[in-house]
Amino acid sequence: MFGFSQAKIERNLILLGILTLITISIGGLVQIIPLFAVEQTIERVGGIRPYTPLELAGRDIYVREGCYTCHSQMVRPFRDERERYGHYSLAAESMYDHPFQWGSKRTGPDLARVGGRYSDEWQVLHLRDPRSVVPASIMPAYGFLDRALDYRGIADRMATLRAVGVPYTDEMVANARADLEAQARPESDGSGFAGRYARARQVDADADPARITEMDALVAYLQMLGTLVDFSEVTPQQLRQQ
Ligand code: HEC
Repeated sequence: MFGFSQAKIERNLILLGILTLITISIGGLVQIIPLFAVEQTIERVGGIRPYTPLELAGRDIYVREGCYTCHSQMVRPFRDERERYGHYSLAAESMYDHPFQWGSKRTGPDLARVGGRYSDEWQVLHLRDPRSVVPASIMPAYGFLDRALDYRGIADRMATLRAVGVPYTDEMVANARADLEAQARPESDGSGFAGRYARARQVDADADPARITEMDALVAYLQMLGTLVDFSEVTPQQLRQQ
């Protein structure tokens, strides 16, 4: 090509360097340019919303406890994965995650669609003592999460996420504490909170309305994972067109 023989190129360091650079640049551009159009590369699907304050607190506990060192949150588009976990993960499902929890290690199962698979009671029993429900489990016990949740900073946490693009409204930030309490106390009036967060469910993991615990928050988070998109309404064709 261009009159250069392979022998000439390999013996001329500068020429080899320049040609290598050109080749790598083409590869780089092919990967990078589509990202400038990222608005289009994330499929638009209905139902995706930011985390409720309680779910957000639970997600922070998930990260703090390093659950991601054993659990991924990304169902890959392979048949065996879809049969075990459900529809493969869409980019849109983690678009408000900072940082995302895709993970790269599966000592335990993928959790991207674990929401609703078990009852709240099961989740609590399992977190307190995994072997009480799954005798062969090697997952650590997290009974200490029955302590009170510290959510004094939850509104600031949401405002910070808003600064990096999560669409929390002023109303959501202003009502952060009240919404967190409403979600953790099923007997309370959750109408205001439910209006702000579609498909959010009230959770009282320890069945003690007087206390809001880290367990309540973590279970609220686990129970919403993968539940926002109604896949009966999403067809592969729709995904291709968008
Ligand atoms: C040392 C690795 C390890 C860590 C750390 C770990 N897990 Fe697990 N987890 C497992 C294993 C193994 C299983 C499968 C056996 C079982 O169900 O207990 C599992 C199962 C689960 C399940 C049930 C999934 C299903 O589809 O059946 C949930 C939910 C779960 N873990 C949540 C968590 C959360 C939340 C944390 C952090 C607080 C965590 N795990 C930390 C190893 C781990």
